[in-house]
Amino acid sequence: MSANKYKTFDAATASDHQQFEHIRNTHTLRPWFHITPPHGLLNDPNGFCYFNNSYHLFYQWFPFDTYHGMKHWMHVTSADLYQWQEQGCKITPTEEYESHGAYSGAALVEGDQAYLFYTGNIKTETDRDANQCVALLDQDNQVEKYAHNPVIRSVPEGYTGHVRDPKVLQVGEGYYMLLGAQRAADLSGAIIVYHSTNKLDWVFLGELTISAQAVFSQAYMFECPDLLKVDEQDVLIFSPQGMAAEGHRFHNRFHVVYCTGAMDWDALTFTVEHWDELDRGFDFYAPQTMANAPGKPTLMAWAGTDEDLPSAQYGWINCLTAPRELSVVDGRLHQHLVSLDAYVKDSLHLSNNGIKTMTQPLESLSFLLDMDCQQVDDRVEIALVDEDDRQLVLTIDNENKTITLDRLEYAHHDMSWEFGHVRRTVLARACRDVTIFCDQSILEVFVNGGEAVFTALFFPKANKHHLSVTSQAEENITLNLQYINNN
Ligand code: FRU
Repeated sequence: MSANKYKTFDAATASDHQQFEHIRNTHTLRPWFHITPPHGLLNDPNGFCYFNNSYHLFYQWFPFDTYHGMKHWMHVTSADLYQWQEQGCKITPTEEYESHGAYSGAALVEGDQAYLFYTGNIKTETDRDANQCVALLDQDNQVEKYAHNPVIRSVPEGYTGHVRDPKVLQVGEGYYMLLGAQRAADLSGAIIVYHSTNKLDWVFLGELTISAQAVFSQAYMFECPDLLKVDEQDVLIFSPQGMAAEGHRFHNRFHVVYCTGAMDWDALTFTVEHWDELDRGFDFYAPQTMANAPGKPTLMAWAGTDEDLPSAQYGWINCLTAPRELSVVDGRLHQHLVSLDAYVKDSLHLSNNGIKTMTQPLESLSFLLDMDCQQVDDRVEIALVDEDDRQLVLTIDNENKTITLDRLEYAHHDMSWEFGHVRRTVLARACRDVTIFCDQSILEVFVNGGEAVFTALFFPKANKHHLSVTSQAEENITLNLQYINNN
């Protein structure tokens, strides 16, 4: 084990800090609008909330290296969810009850404080344990751990040490805490629930029964539960681990599902009307929705699950997704990109004039591309191509109502990656519109106003890129290309 694996940030040496400064100032492959760690590894978004007239977000952070080590909470704030100011490391796991990391959790905003719930992770030689903890964020952006942590010590009977990722909701006069868990009896995944009247003293209530549970029974762990109302519908989101691939679903290492339906707190049941995978791409995990959102319900996720990405050579890995507003349409959860209009620097209207293939050189890799697909009866391919001819190809096939994203030569994964470089989804209706948000080393594709979304990391080497748009039936294709820049 590396000497740094369980080192805390406050123990960083002068030479560590020198190295950190160097990494922080390395911009190769770094997205401009997506949150990346200044150095080290980022994973889940945590404590996402609107508080004190600002958006606050924390993320799981291992400062010392690009593997999963001692997790801290790094704090960033923003006025618009795109330009983020670093506020520093706010939860450093220095206490006995969090000896192996301050794991994920969520915020609850009340008055002039935000309660940050998180999991104190404990590892022993042979086993693990979990404590649920609280820290308070005040109006000066200071975070202080609750003096009587943990608020829940260890795990309830019947569950292994894999109990984590608290999400606390106020319901009526009281509070409910949802936690991801693993049943001891058969090592399967579950969501468990606690209740409190004051957010500090918690009583174990039992398991949340999800009516479609049989579908997820193969999962060995549920992580990062979340529950909210979207357009008057209850929406449950969680990250089951261990789902087997089925059709076009569950082709990644870990997955995220959402269920729309109805939550009954008295019976502790969630009656599912519809469920599906939340993202159709390669790199999407552990999403969290914003607490106390002033506008539409908004979600961000860790864009990744891999540990071995090309940016590791520059001393950092992983980013978060763009912020996505949620809506429910016909019982389905839709995700819309929060507007980037304020950052659009140049707008180009492109048309193929009925010619089969159109190419367009790209000035930068941070852009939005909108395509109206209503005229497409057949198939259109949009390829992002680099100097070495490496391609990322989105195929809109309106005859078969499918959307396919092929990462081809950008498949930076291990060559033994089980499910290869193609992700596909079948749409309820033909594709009407596509928005691609490309930002240096991440691509997010929004189809039919957010009916389907694909997240994909890619790691371009060369600087020169172009778009190549091919229409099989030589239909008239029009696109809007907008360069975005935060300078
Ligand atoms: C999800 C997760 C959480 C855990 C955290 C640790 O990616 O495994 O369950 O709290 O990451 O970093």
